[in-house]
Order: sequence, then structure tokens, then C-alpha cells
Amino acid sequence: MAEKLLIAGNWKMHKTPSQTVEYFRAFKPMVEGIDEVEILIFPPFIDIPTAVSESRGSNIKIGAQNCYFEKEGAFTGEISPVMLREAGCEYVILGHSERRHIFGETDELINKKVISALEEGLRVILCVGETLQERESGLTFTVVETQLRLGLSGIGDKLDRIDIAYEPVWAIGTGVAAKPEDAEEVHRFIYEKLKEINPTKAEGVRVLYGGSVKPSNAEAILSQPHIKGVLVGGASLKPESFAEIVKIGASIERSK
Ligand code: PGA
Repeated sequence: MAEKLLIAGNWKMHKTPSQTVEYFRAFKPMVEGIDEVEILIFPPFIDIPTAVSESRGSNIKIGAQNCYFEKEGAFTGEISPVMLREAGCEYVILGHSERRHIFGETDELINKKVISALEEGLRVILCVGETLQERESGLTFTVVETQLRLGLSGIGDKLDRIDIAYEPVWAIGTGVAAKPEDAEEVHRFIYEKLKEINPTKAEGVRVLYGGSVKPSNAEAILSQPHIKGVLVGGASLKPESFAEIVKIGASIERSK
């Protein structure tokens, strides 16, 4: 059976613990009882305990935006998957384009993180996506395939613990989302590649779209057949706009 649409909010480096409390007190009642979609929020590490306790007993799950691949040790400033699990995270985002391009994360490093997060029982959202220059050079499919294959290398039979976020770098934070039909083409390609990687489990993977998703374009994006959710940055920071996107997803699920 196909999974529910996943509506995920990536706060990036926004909000303090007290702002997190404020957000959840506003957001929770707005989405109360909506169970047609899976709702997921990725706050900064420091806000995770607050987010977990504020969302307890609700339909909102919490994840982390990154982690390191070691369980513990002399790795100043890093957070391990074990710590995230105990703090109440179910998911971790790995390979976000800001990690790749600002912090220089390579596919090899991201792959180590993917394997370690899966071993500790986290679900992983692996992000892939081309830069504008790569798109203009006709490299979109090559880049996406490489990031996918290297990122998922050696995960064995755990593809059912993975979701993919296709996030074209040129669409992130720019206000200009990919055209739904262009995103759909890449999503279809990602499913083809996932089937080559694991024919039995590929269908169960949700491939999300990310990059300037907002209430005004969410319906067109989420209506594409191979788009199984969204990863929302800027528009997830306000409870009103994120709740609106959740409701759009729920109404699409109801009309299926
Ligand atoms: P954006 O970010 O919605 O602000 O473009 C999306 C993301 O980077 O996950």
C-alpha cells in the first residue's frame, strides 16, 4: 500500500527554544486530527527536546537536520544518531544542499551518515539536487543519479527506511520553485533508479520535492503522480502557512 504524503518542515537555523514552544502551541491546534498525511518538523538540535515534549501525543513527528556517523567520541560540535534517538527523533535529514555546498559534505561522508543513522534506527531523508550551473549544462540527471547511488551505497535491505528529497539548489530559498512538471520528470527518474537499486522496495520510498514550496504552489506540486510529499523551508516557519500546506496535502489524500 502506498504511504501517506509526507509534509515536512525544515526550520534550518531558525527559532530558539521559547520560540519553539510558541510555534507548537499555535501549530498543534491548526492541524489537530489531520491523519491523512504524515507531519514532520525538523528544528535545530537545541530545540529538539522542546519540540518533542510540545508535540507529545499529537500527530506531529520530530526529526533532526543532520548528524555525525560515529556513536560517540572526540568530535567537538557533533551530534550522534544515538543521541537523536534518545531525544525522541524518528527521522534525520542527510545531504541537504546547504550541508553539501556551505559545509563541504561529500557523497562519501553523507553515505557514512546514512548507514550509521539507519543502524541506530532512524529513518533518513536523503536530499539530492542539481545546481543551476549543472542544470544549464544538462547534468541534472547525472548529478541526481550520482548523489542517489553514492548516498545509498551499502544500505543493504534498508531502502524501506529511506525517503528522498529532490531539492534543486536553484529553487531553495529563492521563491522560485521548479515547475511541477519539471520536478515530476526528475521524480520519475529517481523512482526508476530506485527500482534498479532495489526492485522490491523502491515503490515504498517517498520522493519529496523541496525548494520554495508555499501554500500557493503546494497543490500543483503535490498533485504530480510521483511527488509523494514536500520538504518546506521558509514557509514552515510560520504555523499558519505550514498548516495550510498540511491541509492541502490532506485534501489531496482525501480525493484519491
Ligand atoms: P525553501 O527551503 O522552502 O526555503 O526553499 C527548502 C529546503 O531547503 O529544504
